[in-house]
Amino acid sequence: MGYEWISRNKELYNLLKEYYQDELEKFLLWTEEKLKPAIRVNTLKITPEELKERLENQGFTLKRLNFYNEAFYVEYAPFEIGKTIEHYLGYYYVQNISSMIPPLVLNPQPHEMVLDIAAAPGSKTTQMAQMMRNTGVIIANDVAVDRIKALSNNVDRMGALNVIITMVEGFKFGFWFKNSFDRVLVDAPCSAIGTLHKSYEVAKWWGYEKVGKLTRTQKGLILAAFDCLKPGGTMVYSTCTITPEENEAVINFLIEKREGVIIEEFDIQGIKMRK
Ligand SMILES: C[S@@+](CC[C@H](N)C(=O)[O-])C[C@H]1O[C@@H](n2cnc3c(N)ncnc32)[C@H](O)[C@@H]1O
Repeated sequence: MGYEWISRNKELYNLLKEYYQDELEKFLLWTEEKLKPAIRVNTLKITPEELKERLENQGFTLKRLNFYNEAFYVEYAPFEIGKTIEHYLGYYYVQNISSMIPPLVLNPQPHEMVLDIAAAPGSKTTQMAQMMRNTGVIIANDVAVDRIKALSNNVDRMGALNVIITMVEGFKFGFWFKNSFDRVLVDAPCSAIGTLHKSYEVAKWWGYEKVGKLTRTQKGLILAAFDCLKPGGTMVYSTCTITPEENEAVINFLIEKREGVIIEEFDIQGIKMRK
Protein backbone atom coordinates (compact mmCIF):
# COMPACT_ATOMS: atom_id res chain seq x y z
CA MET A 1 0.00 0.00 0.00
CA GLY A 2 2.76 2.47 1.00
CA TYR A 3 4.65 1.61 -2.17
CA GLU A 4 1.64 2.45 -4.32
CA TRP A 5 0.86 5.77 -2.57
CA ILE A 6 4.48 6.95 -2.73
CA SER A 7 4.62 6.17 -6.44
CA ARG A 8 1.47 8.26 -6.96
CA ASN A 9 2.89 11.31 -5.12
CA LYS A 10 5.36 12.57 -7.69
CA GLU A 11 6.93 15.23 -5.45
CA LEU A 12 7.64 12.68 -2.75
CA TYR A 13 8.71 10.00 -5.20
CA ASN A 14 11.21 12.34 -6.90
CA LEU A 15 12.62 13.50 -3.59
CA LEU A 16 13.12 9.92 -2.39
CA LYS A 17 14.66 9.00 -5.73
CA GLU A 18 17.15 11.84 -5.36
CA TYR A 19 17.88 10.82 -1.78
CA TYR A 20 18.12 7.04 -2.12
CA GLN A 21 19.14 6.72 -5.79
CA ASP A 22 19.88 3.01 -6.44
CA GLU A 23 18.50 2.05 -3.05
CA LEU A 24 15.04 3.54 -3.64
CA GLU A 25 13.47 0.16 -4.40
CA LYS A 26 14.86 -1.21 -1.15
CA PHE A 27 13.35 1.74 0.77
CA LEU A 28 9.96 1.35 -0.93
CA LEU A 29 9.86 -2.33 -0.07
CA TRP A 30 10.82 -1.50 3.54
CA THR A 31 7.73 0.71 3.80
CA GLU A 32 5.64 -2.42 3.18
CA GLU A 33 7.25 -4.33 6.04
CA LYS A 34 5.57 -4.68 9.39
CA LEU A 35 8.09 -3.83 12.11
CA LYS A 36 8.25 -5.84 15.31
CA PRO A 37 6.78 -3.86 18.21
CA ALA A 38 9.13 -2.88 20.99
CA ILE A 39 8.61 -1.96 24.63
CA ARG A 40 10.60 0.14 27.06
CA VAL A 41 10.56 -1.13 30.63
CA ASN A 42 9.57 1.48 33.18
CA THR A 43 12.40 1.01 35.65
CA LEU A 44 10.66 3.38 38.07
CA LYS A 45 8.23 0.51 38.67
CA ILE A 46 9.78 -2.82 37.71
CA THR A 47 13.06 -4.42 36.57
CA PRO A 48 13.50 -5.73 33.00
CA GLU A 49 13.89 -9.29 34.35
CA GLU A 50 10.69 -9.17 36.40
CA LEU A 51 8.70 -7.75 33.51
CA LYS A 52 10.08 -10.31 31.06
CA GLU A 53 9.03 -13.11 33.38
CA ARG A 54 5.53 -11.70 33.88
CA LEU A 55 4.94 -11.22 30.13
CA GLU A 56 6.48 -14.53 29.13
CA ASN A 57 4.18 -16.28 31.61
CA GLN A 58 1.32 -14.89 29.50
CA GLY A 59 2.80 -16.30 26.28
CA PHE A 60 4.78 -13.29 24.96
CA THR A 61 8.30 -13.83 23.67
CA LEU A 62 10.70 -10.94 24.30
CA LYS A 63 14.21 -10.27 23.08
CA ARG A 64 16.47 -7.62 24.65
CA LEU A 65 17.59 -4.77 22.33
CA ASN A 66 21.31 -4.82 21.65
CA PHE A 67 21.77 -1.11 22.41
CA TYR A 68 19.42 -0.58 25.33
CA ASN A 69 19.16 -2.93 28.30
CA GLU A 70 15.83 -1.50 29.38
CA ALA A 71 13.94 -2.39 26.20
CA PHE A 72 12.73 -5.50 24.39
CA TYR A 73 11.48 -6.47 20.96
CA VAL A 74 8.19 -8.33 21.13
CA GLU A 75 9.05 -11.40 19.04
CA TYR A 76 5.73 -13.10 19.56
CA ALA A 77 2.48 -11.76 21.01
CA PRO A 78 -0.54 -13.99 21.74
CA PHE A 79 -2.61 -10.79 21.91
CA GLU A 80 -1.95 -7.04 21.58
CA ILE A 81 1.01 -5.98 23.70
CA GLY A 82 -0.80 -2.78 24.75
CA LYS A 83 -3.61 -4.79 26.33
CA THR A 84 -1.99 -6.38 29.38
CA ILE A 85 -2.54 -5.45 33.00
CA GLU A 86 1.19 -4.64 33.19
CA HIS A 87 0.75 -2.03 30.45
CA TYR A 88 -2.20 -0.53 32.27
CA LEU A 89 -0.09 -0.40 35.46
CA GLY A 90 2.64 1.54 33.65
CA TYR A 91 5.27 -1.20 33.86
CA TYR A 92 6.21 -0.54 30.24
CA TYR A 93 5.66 1.78 27.28
CA VAL A 94 5.13 0.54 23.72
CA GLN A 95 7.67 2.62 21.79
CA ASN A 96 9.43 2.43 18.43
CA ILE A 97 13.08 1.67 18.95
CA SER A 98 14.17 4.74 16.95
CA SER A 99 12.13 6.89 19.33
CA MET A 100 14.20 5.60 22.27
CA ILE A 101 17.41 7.04 20.84
CA PRO A 102 17.07 10.85 21.32
CA PRO A 103 16.76 10.61 25.15
CA LEU A 104 19.75 8.24 25.23
CA VAL A 105 21.78 10.82 23.31
CA LEU A 106 20.56 13.76 25.42
CA ASN A 107 21.33 11.67 28.52
CA PRO A 108 19.50 13.72 31.19
CA GLN A 109 20.93 13.26 34.68
CA PRO A 110 19.20 13.11 38.08
CA HIS A 111 18.41 16.54 39.61
CA GLU A 112 18.76 18.44 36.32
CA MET A 113 16.37 20.96 34.73
CA VAL A 114 15.17 19.57 31.40
CA LEU A 115 12.85 21.02 28.75
CA ASP A 116 10.97 18.76 26.35
CA ILE A 117 9.66 21.48 24.06
CA ALA A 118 7.37 19.34 21.85
CA ALA A 119 6.55 16.48 24.19
CA ALA A 120 3.21 14.85 23.43
CA PRO A 121 2.27 12.02 23.74
CA GLY A 122 5.23 11.63 26.09
CA SER A 123 7.28 8.63 24.91
CA LYS A 124 10.50 10.52 25.45
CA THR A 125 9.33 12.56 28.46
CA THR A 126 8.55 9.38 30.38
CA GLN A 127 11.82 7.78 29.26
CA MET A 128 13.74 10.82 30.53
CA ALA A 129 11.84 10.75 33.84
CA GLN A 130 13.09 7.23 34.46
CA MET A 131 16.63 8.16 33.40
CA MET A 132 16.50 10.98 35.97
CA ARG A 133 15.13 8.56 38.61
CA ASN A 134 12.14 10.87 39.05
CA THR A 135 14.29 13.73 40.37
CA GLY A 136 14.96 17.23 39.03
CA VAL A 137 12.33 18.79 36.78
CA ILE A 138 11.12 18.10 33.25
CA ILE A 139 8.94 20.76 31.64
CA ALA A 140 6.94 18.80 29.05
CA ASN A 141 5.34 21.20 26.60
CA ASP A 142 3.10 20.83 23.55
CA VAL A 143 0.54 22.92 21.69
CA ALA A 144 -2.06 20.32 20.73
CA VAL A 145 -4.72 19.87 23.37
CA ASP A 146 -5.68 16.31 22.37
CA ARG A 147 -2.08 15.24 22.39
CA ILE A 148 -1.60 16.93 25.79
CA LYS A 149 -4.36 14.67 27.14
CA ALA A 150 -2.40 11.62 25.98
CA LEU A 151 0.79 13.13 27.44
CA SER A 152 -0.86 13.67 30.77
CA ASN A 153 -2.29 10.10 30.80
CA ASN A 154 1.11 8.63 29.99
CA VAL A 155 2.93 10.71 32.61
CA ASP A 156 0.36 9.58 35.16
CA ARG A 157 0.39 5.90 34.08
CA MET A 158 4.20 5.73 34.14
CA GLY A 159 4.39 7.38 37.59
CA ALA A 160 6.64 10.19 36.32
CA LEU A 161 6.56 12.57 39.29
CA ASN A 162 9.14 15.13 38.13
CA VAL A 163 7.12 16.34 35.11
CA ILE A 164 5.33 19.68 34.75
CA ILE A 165 3.06 19.85 31.69
CA THR A 166 2.59 23.14 29.85
CA MET A 167 0.59 24.03 26.74
CA VAL A 168 2.18 26.99 24.97
CA GLU A 169 3.78 27.76 21.61
CA GLY A 170 7.29 26.39 22.04
CA PHE A 171 8.72 29.57 20.45
CA LYS A 172 7.82 31.51 23.62
CA PHE A 173 10.18 29.53 25.85
CA GLY A 174 13.14 31.40 24.38
CA PHE A 175 11.91 34.66 25.94
CA TRP A 176 10.47 33.27 29.14
CA PHE A 177 13.15 30.80 30.18
CA LYS A 178 16.43 32.15 28.83
CA ASN A 179 19.51 30.29 30.14
CA SER A 180 17.40 28.05 32.40
CA PHE A 181 17.82 24.41 31.37
CA ASP A 182 20.68 21.92 31.58
CA ARG A 183 19.24 19.95 28.65
CA VAL A 184 16.59 20.51 26.02
CA LEU A 185 14.96 18.03 23.69
CA VAL A 186 13.48 19.31 20.43
CA ASP A 187 11.60 16.32 19.04
CA ALA A 188 10.19 18.45 16.28
CA PRO A 189 6.92 18.13 14.36
CA CYS A 190 7.94 16.85 10.95
CA SER A 191 6.68 15.25 7.75
CA ALA A 192 7.29 11.78 9.22
CA ILE A 193 8.66 10.00 6.16
CA GLY A 194 10.41 7.61 8.55
CA THR A 195 7.01 6.32 9.70
CA LEU A 196 5.81 5.26 6.25
CA HIS A 197 5.95 1.62 7.27
CA LYS A 198 3.40 2.36 10.03
CA SER A 199 1.02 4.40 7.92
CA TYR A 200 1.07 5.58 4.34
CA GLU A 201 -1.06 8.68 5.22
CA VAL A 202 2.01 10.89 4.86
CA ALA A 203 2.37 9.78 1.24
CA LYS A 204 -1.06 11.25 0.55
CA TRP A 205 -0.35 14.79 1.77
CA TRP A 206 3.42 15.19 1.48
CA GLY A 207 4.36 18.26 -0.60
CA TYR A 208 6.91 21.10 -0.52
CA GLU A 209 4.34 23.67 0.57
CA LYS A 210 3.41 21.67 3.69
CA VAL A 211 7.05 20.87 4.42
CA GLY A 212 7.88 24.60 4.14
CA LYS A 213 5.42 25.31 6.95
CA LEU A 214 6.94 22.56 9.07
CA THR A 215 10.50 23.80 8.57
CA ARG A 216 9.45 27.26 9.74
CA THR A 217 8.15 25.70 12.97
CA GLN A 218 11.26 23.55 13.32
CA LYS A 219 13.51 26.60 12.96
CA GLY A 220 11.47 28.59 15.49
CA LEU A 221 11.62 25.74 17.98
CA ILE A 222 15.33 25.08 17.62
CA LEU A 223 16.18 28.78 18.22
CA ALA A 224 13.90 28.96 21.26
CA ALA A 225 15.33 25.71 22.63
CA PHE A 226 18.89 26.95 22.21
CA ASP A 227 18.08 30.22 23.98
CA CYS A 228 16.68 28.25 26.92
CA LEU A 229 19.95 26.41 27.53
CA LYS A 230 22.22 27.36 30.40
CA PRO A 231 25.74 28.15 29.20
CA GLY A 232 27.36 24.80 28.40
CA GLY A 233 23.97 23.07 28.22
CA THR A 234 23.09 20.28 25.79
CA MET A 235 20.34 20.07 23.20
CA VAL A 236 19.18 17.23 20.96
CA TYR A 237 17.21 17.97 17.80
CA SER A 238 15.40 14.93 16.42
CA THR A 239 12.74 14.15 13.83
CA CYS A 240 11.18 11.01 12.40
CA THR A 241 11.86 12.10 8.86
CA ILE A 242 14.89 11.59 6.67
CA THR A 243 15.28 14.59 4.39
CA PRO A 244 18.00 17.23 4.94
CA GLU A 245 15.43 20.07 4.69
CA GLU A 246 13.95 19.07 8.04
CA ASN A 247 17.20 17.93 9.66
CA GLU A 248 20.64 19.20 8.65
CA ALA A 249 19.23 22.46 7.18
CA VAL A 250 17.53 23.25 10.48
CA ILE A 251 20.79 22.70 12.36
CA ASN A 252 22.57 24.94 9.82
CA PHE A 253 19.96 27.62 10.43
CA LEU A 254 20.72 27.50 14.16
CA ILE A 255 24.46 27.78 13.51
CA GLU A 256 23.87 30.82 11.29
CA LYS A 257 21.59 32.55 13.78
CA ARG A 258 23.34 31.87 17.08
CA GLU A 259 26.91 32.04 18.26
CA GLY A 260 28.48 29.32 20.37
CA VAL A 261 26.77 26.29 18.85
CA ILE A 262 29.00 23.22 19.08
CA ILE A 263 27.91 20.13 17.14
CA GLU A 264 28.94 16.97 18.96
CA GLU A 265 29.30 13.46 17.61
CA PHE A 266 27.81 10.60 19.54
CA ASP A 267 28.09 6.88 19.48
CA ILE A 268 25.70 4.32 20.89
CA GLN A 269 27.11 0.83 20.99
CA GLY A 270 24.99 -1.52 18.93
CA ILE A 271 23.69 1.14 16.53
CA LYS A 272 25.11 1.53 13.05
CA MET A 273 25.83 5.23 12.47
CA ARG A 274 25.70 7.10 9.18
CA LYS A 275 28.96 8.99 8.68
C1 LIG B 1 7.13 14.36 16.90
S1 LIG B 1 5.84 14.91 17.89
C2 LIG B 1 6.51 14.76 19.51
C3 LIG B 1 6.59 13.34 20.01
C4 LIG B 1 7.01 13.25 21.47
N1 LIG B 1 8.26 13.93 21.70
C5 LIG B 1 7.13 11.82 21.93
O1 LIG B 1 8.24 11.27 21.93
O2 LIG B 1 6.11 11.25 22.32
C6 LIG B 1 5.90 16.64 17.66
C7 LIG B 1 4.98 17.43 18.58
O3 LIG B 1 5.19 18.82 18.33
C8 LIG B 1 4.02 19.50 18.69
N2 LIG B 1 4.11 20.88 18.18
C9 LIG B 1 3.85 21.34 16.93
N3 LIG B 1 4.06 22.67 16.87
C10 LIG B 1 4.49 23.07 18.10
C11 LIG B 1 4.85 24.31 18.67
N4 LIG B 1 4.84 25.43 17.96
N5 LIG B 1 5.24 24.34 19.97
C12 LIG B 1 5.26 23.19 20.70
N6 LIG B 1 4.92 21.99 20.22
C13 LIG B 1 4.53 21.92 18.93
C14 LIG B 1 2.94 18.62 18.06
O4 LIG B 1 1.69 18.85 18.65
C15 LIG B 1 3.49 17.22 18.33
O5 LIG B 1 2.91 16.66 19.48
